[in-house]
Amino acid sequence: MCVARLYRRSQISCSVPTLQLVCLFAVLTATIAAVGGCNLPPFRILTPKEQSRITKGPFLLRLSEHRAAIMWETNSEGPFTVSYGRDEKLGQQINTKPDRVEYSLPRSRETLFIHKVWLENLQPGQVYYYRVMARETESMLCTFKTPGTDADEVRFAVYGDCRSNPRMHRKIVERIIERDADFVVISGDLVTDGGNYEQWGVQFFGPLKGLAESTPVYALKGNHDKSKQNYFERLLVPPGQTANFSFDYGPVHFFCADNYSGTEIQVLPLIGADMGGSASPWKFVSYHVPSLNFGGHWSNWGYPSALPTLSKAGIDFAMAGHSHQYERFRPVAPPSDADGSYVTYITSGGAGAGLHGVERSVYHAYAKKIHHFCLFDINRDKLTMKAIDANGEVIDQLWVNKAGGRLNNEYLQTAVPMEAVRAYQDSHRK
Ligand SMILES: [Fe+2]
Ligand SMILES: [Fe+2]
Repeated sequence: MCVARLYRRSQISCSVPTLQLVCLFAVLTATIAAVGGCNLPPFRILTPKEQSRITKGPFLLRLSEHRAAIMWETNSEGPFTVSYGRDEKLGQQINTKPDRVEYSLPRSRETLFIHKVWLENLQPGQVYYYRVMARETESMLCTFKTPGTDADEVRFAVYGDCRSNPRMHRKIVERIIERDADFVVISGDLVTDGGNYEQWGVQFFGPLKGLAESTPVYALKGNHDKSKQNYFERLLVPPGQTANFSFDYGPVHFFCADNYSGTEIQVLPLIGADMGGSASPWKFVSYHVPSLNFGGHWSNWGYPSALPTLSKAGIDFAMAGHSHQYERFRPVAPPSDADGSYVTYITSGGAGAGLHGVERSVYHAYAKKIHHFCLFDINRDKLTMKAIDANGEVIDQLWVNKAGGRLNNEYLQTAVPMEAVRAYQDSHRK
């Protein structure tokens, strides 16, 4: 670690004995910089304003027509406030009761404070301004726009497994920023080790800067995100919610499930009950461990119940990660003896972690070992999906539409029987 950084962290006052120490540090700093050993900023004593910092966020955790959940983290103890309003005067304020996090680094012990609040009684389809506070400092002025009640268009991105490679994660985020998505869903494995608090800043919050202040990022829990300290829940689950939740945005109803902590016996009924209460024309579910996956981990979460349950629930797209690849399956037809939807399963686990191969099969529409994300554009009954790589190149595209709640015949003619997919899955089950 650079000498200057060590000094900044220590935040010592300038008494006479320590002044000698400071001089020694300054000489040392200049010497190291002169020989090119460390790219150091100019040496100076930090002001109180600089010492108090917002260390994560602000981060938009949830957004609906009438409320928004915001998270941020400070290095100084609160309570602090978020100020917000329909204009830059920020006429409303909410105080927070922060959650204190203590963790160890190799040479120090760190204490940080997580703040999470709901902004209530918002108006649909309106731009809101907000600013979060730390002691003697504050964030930049941020904005978000609530969904309109009659919105019939939406654009959103889905990706997974951004862990372990923050540079790749950042490239993916930059491609998403260019495309101006309304929301983002990340299907888990956000960091290499969920119990290592440093990684949450480096691998997750850092790469999402410039996006998550104004665009809601719905993060799901993967197997790498678990920790006995519950860092995932403390950072990313708003007050009063759990890691299983749903939301609406225009023509889309989206259920996000924690299928790593929960078994299929617990999670599948949640999905069924939630979808049964939605009249949205497009229904999505996302969870970490795929129910169809040929390659990588060869996952088959929920076998044998998941496929018929999701079809019965009327799901259109099931988005998962865990295996680090892109694979889009042909639509899976409902069971031959039951009604249900044709479900398109996509494994999109390539936003950072080391890639896995895919075993292409007749059940795939397209599959590739590549870092990427998925971008959906829905305008009423029309849906476009593009899989886009880290350089912005489109690697796969899908166009479908619905009439009377039924997908177009050209797409349905490409469907595969559920019984055949399950037999193939069974023959490869570990
Ligand atoms: Fe993974
Ligand atoms: Fe995973």
